Amino acid sequence: MLTQNGMIRLTDEEMKEFSSYLKANYGIDLTKKKQLIEARMHQILAQKKVNSFTDYFKLLKQERPEEIDAMLNRLTTNHTYFMREPKHFDFLRDVILPMQEKVNAGKEFSVWSAGCSTGEEAYTAAMVIRDFFAFRKWDFKILATDISTQAMEGAKAAIYHKDALSNLPPVWLKKYFVKKADPYYALSEDVKKDVIFRKFNLMDPFCFTKPFDLIFCRNVMIYFDQPTKDKLIEKFYHALKKGGYLFIGHSETVQRGITAFTYIKPSVYRKG
Ligand SMILES: C[S@@+](CC[C@H](N)C(=O)[O-])C[C@H]1O[C@@H](n2cnc3c(N)ncnc32)[C@H](O)[C@@H]1O
Repeated sequence: MLTQNGMIRLTDEEMKEFSSYLKANYGIDLTKKKQLIEARMHQILAQKKVNSFTDYFKLLKQERPEEIDAMLNRLTTNHTYFMREPKHFDFLRDVILPMQEKVNAGKEFSVWSAGCSTGEEAYTAAMVIRDFFAFRKWDFKILATDISTQAMEGAKAAIYHKDALSNLPPVWLKKYFVKKADPYYALSEDVKKDVIFRKFNLMDPFCFTKPFDLIFCRNVMIYFDQPTKDKLIEKFYHALKKGGYLFIGHSETVQRGITAFTYIKPSVYRKG
């Protein structure tokens, strides 16, 4: 069915099928976002020259990775910026890293930015850690993952609009970026090398070789329903070292009573 502006409408049945598929495979709950799906999928349906979502599902069911990636690239919300929710970065600098210096004889520190989008969160963490350790030799690694391949292409290129950088201290802008044609800045190769980007669906089983010291999963679970969030929190718990931290978005919560995490302060949790 077509709307007046040529957009293909989702019937109630199609909406049910599509939202169940998204929830079951990617955790994303768009049950109440019919218009958003129609608007964001419009271009893909036009390119595929299909006349209904039912026809589009037939293509999707062939499970071609490029088809699925195109859909996820359109349906995920990737908004982010450097130094977003800065209290987490203060906590990293003022609490976590000083504690690591005292207790971590191996001088290895690992971070996971889960749902990293275009990389600003992971790169901000890299700058905080670099600045903290300065010339002291620490081996820190940052893994950054997302299901949007398009967002991660942006992360790997690491060319940012000045608006995404407006919360960064000017001294870091000078130290870690090179000005390109206005309004863009390129991140230094050194900081780029601190972060490894991988496509990863948080609904899949976690099979990391080593546990992490710190996991960021901020502004990702807002798109998931409660049972999906609860399961994911449990998986994060097992993916952390004892004493490791989980940061979630400031508008998100972990249900007390159902998690083994210790609540430290809003949006900050510790294992043990
Ligand atoms: C709003 S961004 C958050 C970026 C950053 N963490 C922040 O707080 O600014 C949400 C990201 O979660 C990703 N995402 C959603 N569902 C996911 C899933 N099942 N697995 C991995 N990433 C997912 C989206 O692709 C999107 O890039």
